[in-house]
Amino acid sequence: MSGRGTRRGRDVAVLLDDFGHRLPPLPPADAAPRERGPFTQLVPGRGMRGRGRGRTAALAPLSVWRMTSEQTPVVWPLIATSGLPPTGAQMGLDLLSGGAFYCDPVGWVTDDDIPVTNPNVVVFGKPGRGKSATVKAFALRMLAYGYRTLVLGDTKDEYEPLCRALGVEPFVIGHGLPARVNPLAFGPLGHGWERLDTAEIRRREALVFARWLVLLRGLVASQAVPFGPVEETAVGEALRLLTGYRSGATRLTEPTIPQLWHTLDEPPPELVSGCRYADRRHFLDATRTLRDALGSLVKGSLAGLFDDHTSIHVDWRAPIQSLSLSRLEPLGDHAVGIALTCLNSWGQAMREIADPGDLRIVVRDETWRQMRLGAEAMKSLDANLRLSRRDADVQILLAHKPSDMLTAGDATSQAVAIARDLLHLCDVKVLHGQDQAVGDELGSMLGLTPTAQRLVTGWAVAGKGRALWLVGDRAFKVQTVLTGPELRLTYTNEALAAGGPT
Ligand SMILES: Nc1ncnc2c1ncn2[C@@H]1O[C@H](COP(=O)(O)OP(=O)(O)O)[C@@H](O)[C@H]1O
Ligand SMILES: [Mg+2]
Repeated sequence: MSGRGTRRGRDVAVLLDDFGHRLPPLPPADAAPRERGPFTQLVPGRGMRGRGRGRTAALAPLSVWRMTSEQTPVVWPLIATSGLPPTGAQMGLDLLSGGAFYCDPVGWVTDDDIPVTNPNVVVFGKPGRGKSATVKAFALRMLAYGYRTLVLGDTKDEYEPLCRALGVEPFVIGHGLPARVNPLAFGPLGHGWERLDTAEIRRREALVFARWLVLLRGLVASQAVPFGPVEETAVGEALRLLTGYRSGATRLTEPTIPQLWHTLDEPPPELVSGCRYADRRHFLDATRTLRDALGSLVKGSLAGLFDDHTSIHVDWRAPIQSLSLSRLEPLGDHAVGIALTCLNSWGQAMREIADPGDLRIVVRDETWRQMRLGAEAMKSLDANLRLSRRDADVQILLAHKPSDMLTAGDATSQAVAIARDLLHLCDVKVLHGQDQAVGDELGSMLGLTPTAQRLVTGWAVAGKGRALWLVGDRAFKVQTVLTGPELRLTYTNEALAAGGPT
């Protein structure tokens, strides 16, 4: 054996020469100096020697795999990130990319690369799948970005722990309690009316009256009474009389629904002539169903709750505000639906003018109770979203399924069209677990792929907080992750745990 450093055997050129082949001669070496490599100092595999320089005694085990480029994509699918920027609330895991999932509806609207044109969110899911918990966690995590939350109707008082944790006492609405909310409130639009020029007065008048009409149409129609042009004229004219707008008052008076009903029931001559009726009798005959519907609301669902001027003082700078409605629960879905309709309209009034930096999340939980009142109530919800002046508000609707409104016995194509419209007003959709039948319904309404639909009816049902998030036309498989304190704040199974009814 030759010693170390000597070459053994013959080199290739000599070997080939033996077989009669000549290798072409090597061109003379390039005289130009070699470019210096970027790494002038090489670090050995175990790290640099010396104290405190991170040298390791043992090398980390390295597993080596060999495969063709055809096989690599199978072993390492190399899934790209979600494509959503990491801004806003970190909600949990994006299970398709393995990364974190962030929710920032307003940020998505302003980003041209994300196919989202409004910041509204609709959350669907079977009860108990974590809809409310996801929304509460979102509200809590968006606080850091300056967002405040307004819960328009907390039908189970389940936002109360969250409010108290943030140092806010929620308003409680119920019979025998002092809190009153006037759904016909002017809101900030009514401020400083006497200083406004005519054009601005006209504009504001149009906004306020449009909102009132939407509300009254929803309320009257919930009593299964039609609200057509006759009713609209009568209500519009009565409201103009009541506010003093007709008589050209510079300071408008805020009406209430009982006052409206009284004016219609005991019509002053101006109202009769303003609506172009020959006489009082004529007016009363034409508006009988309207008056009866309003009368039964005033004496029934609205009594003691929405029948007077607003008596609560809302601090809009508090991190969260909530109106608890659980006292209405024993009165049934209809009463709760009416209350939600009134609160939605009032909440919209409160948000019509706001400071530019006043970012808000408006939560409408258990929206399905309002949907159940029928197509008109659904339309009023739709109008609330549509009329919402402020694109900086993130409006969140929570419901079980889109067809809730259809169970009111109104499975017409019009009702379906309204449900679809409402969905279009919410570019972000969060689909928690659903039964097969509802999955099919969602699938056809939203145009889900079979895979996406299976996620909703299979994977999402199997765990709380699991949902398919549709951001514009992109889909994400997301598991909401709650921290320990959040789990306690969102706990809604007291009744179950106590063995009582749910
Ligand atoms: N991501 C989650 N991880 C763990 N528990 C959750 C999660 N989401 C919800 N929960 C728990 O499940 C229960 C029901 O959730 P909830 O949000 O009230 O359901 P829903 O509003 O869909 O009826 C709550 O006690 C809540 O704490
Ligand atoms: Mg809930």
